[in-house]
Amino acid sequence: MMPPEKVGMTSEQRYYEIPSHWEDRKFPESEIERFERTSRLIPGDVKTIADIGCGNGLFLKYLHEQSQRDFRLVGADRSLTALQHVAGDKVRASIDSLPFADNEFDLVTSLEVLEHLPIDVYNRSLRELSRISRKYLIISVPYSQDLSRSLVECPECHSQFNPNYHVRSFNEVQMANLLNDFSCDCIDVNTIGMSVSYLNYPIEIFGYRKPQKLQYLNTYCPVCGYYSETSVNPGVNLGMIDDQKNLIFKNILKKIWPKIKRSKWLIGIYRKVNK
Ligand SMILES: C[S@@+](CC[C@H](N)C(=O)[O-])C[C@H]1O[C@@H](n2cnc3c(N)ncnc32)[C@H](O)[C@@H]1O
Ligand SMILES: [Zn+2]
Repeated sequence: MMPPEKVGMTSEQRYYEIPSHWEDRKFPESEIERFERTSRLIPGDVKTIADIGCGNGLFLKYLHEQSQRDFRLVGADRSLTALQHVAGDKVRASIDSLPFADNEFDLVTSLEVLEHLPIDVYNRSLRELSRISRKYLIISVPYSQDLSRSLVECPECHSQFNPNYHVRSFNEVQMANLLNDFSCDCIDVNTIGMSVSYLNYPIEIFGYRKPQKLQYLNTYCPVCGYYSETSVNPGVNLGMIDDQKNLIFKNILKKIWPKIKRSKWLIGIYRKVNK
């Protein structure tokens, strides 16, 4: 039985209410780089910042503690559990209906949120982010994610989905044009971080790119609601046999297979054009 406070929530909303997702308020190495690069983009005339989809407020905390500048900071998120960790001003709200005035903040940031939004919410959200910004927006997303290769399979109903609920993927061109219809010009699009992945790797042999991350774990199926707190190996359902011989073969192939370096994130900075 689902706890009563979670009835009516989507699987993704329930996922973000899982306390363990938010408990660690330390800065992991990879996040520091993301936050550092993001904060370096903040123009000199910015005094007020709203971070939309702020999660547990790590970026706001970074700005408060590490930046030499004095900002008025506000966080907004849909997850109550995440917001409990945000120390400063915060509001529970959905990104597509923000309780802020037009042009209220010099800068609006939204980091690693847009890739989660279904189409109806998505367009309204871009309008909202632009509406509450007076001067600038900074948006980051995963770099050109191949969504077809990052699926887990629900052991109950066998539907496949991205375990982090990513439903869209962005490249440089899409980021450059992201806010064209919402009174904003793109100033620049940058890449952040670096990861190594296999070039056109055969999924049947290697399984998933990061099996340890993509196990069906702490995830709610968006179709039937199945939830598992312990890991469920998606490979088994997809017909991959993981016996010892196969494992040795896989490991040799992995060593010799051509690899490519890819950026982890794309980050766009935009200027509001008040027409
Ligand atoms: C991957 S986390 C990113 C958290 C943080 N911005 C960061 O960069 O570490 C995505 C966040 O978006 C929030 N989110 C997803 N859909 C949302 C919506 N419709 N309205 C507000 N927040 C939303 C989630 O609750 C979660 O905190
Ligand atoms: Zn299911």
